[in-house]
Amino acid sequence: MKIGNLIVKDGVLLAPLAGVSNRPFRVLSIKAGAAFTYTEMISSEGIIRNQDRTKEMMHFKSDEQPLGIQLFGSDPKVMEQAAAITVKEFNPDLIDINFGCPVKKVVNKNGGSAILKDLQLTEDIIKGTVAGAGDTPVTIKIRTGWDEAHPVFEQVGEIAQKAGAKAISLHARSRAKGFSGEADWNSIRLLKQAVDIAVIGNGDIKTPQDVIRMKEETGCDGVMIGRAAMGNPFIFSQINHYLKTGELLENPTMREKIGMARLHAGLMKEQFGEERGAKMMRRYLGWYIKGFRGASELRPMLFEVNTIHDIDQVFDDYLNDRLGILPHEIFDPDKKIN
Ligand SMILES: Cc1cc2nc3c(=O)[nH]c(=O)nc-3n(C[C@H](O)[C@H](O)[C@H](O)COP(=O)(O)O)c2cc1C
Repeated sequence: MKIGNLIVKDGVLLAPLAGVSNRPFRVLSIKAGAAFTYTEMISSEGIIRNQDRTKEMMHFKSDEQPLGIQLFGSDPKVMEQAAAITVKEFNPDLIDINFGCPVKKVVNKNGGSAILKDLQLTEDIIKGTVAGAGDTPVTIKIRTGWDEAHPVFEQVGEIAQKAGAKAISLHARSRAKGFSGEADWNSIRLLKQAVDIAVIGNGDIKTPQDVIRMKEETGCDGVMIGRAAMGNPFIFSQINHYLKTGELLENPTMREKIGMARLHAGLMKEQFGEERGAKMMRRYLGWYIKGFRGASELRPMLFEVNTIHDIDQVFDDYLNDRLGILPHEIFDPDKKIN
């Protein structure tokens, strides 16, 4: 897939996920075979005010690339300045604009999907961001519209293309739908017909077969996944294997998942420290152990961990006590996914 001058390899892109797609998660996703990653959405106001927490979220290294930094905001001038700072200080492979976020905190400030109600503002924000980004490609991520009665994705696609955007990701639901019902992949097909720039389809991909089906049904240039990768970076290697060979890999075993969770916890420690890393890791642990035998006993213990060391201890005890597995027998996920 071509996004401006940028070539993105075959495979699927990891979606921007606030509170989830931070550096550790991006490193694991790229290692497992994701074709591209995005930061969490970043406030353009926070960037121009030089806020530490905002800047912390924008740092990345080459083992998370290719990578896009996603910005949100409702003031074209602020977006222009924020894009210029982003390029100068961080130099990502692209800048993505969030026009899809349904969360009240963002929408109430006229950010995210609220902008889909004002197409002139949509255009001005894209133009501002493109001007600020210079040679770095700008892309946008949208939903189908504010609500079911007002689909605007085709219009927004045409506006974006004219304003200089190089790709559009479409989460095929309206803002009003939240995450309910099924994503309407037909809207991805219609968007692909309406524009010449790359279209990245998104919504409800759960299996490697879904990737092929979305491509066939919509003609989209790329496919993006979010929720199916949470606690499951294995999905990227499963998809790549299927795309290459047409064969399905087995789902990861419990030991493989624990191995991955520990690797993840180690990266969280490196990035955020022993205590902050452990607190942030709690939600991922819940996803990793979904479906485990004894998960209901394990979950409260993992939700109370205060250090990364605690996480190792809980897993060691679980494997040893319940299953008679010694720590050194635990699968090393590095070997499997490389
Ligand atoms: C926890 C969570 C956080 C998200 N954060 C963002 C975000 O920061 N920016 C964005 O454009 N979309 C965000 N999304 C939407 C996803 O990028 C994606 O469009 C959506 O989950 C649909 O894809 P999926 O069905 O593969 O999950 C988020 C979704 C979830 C579940």
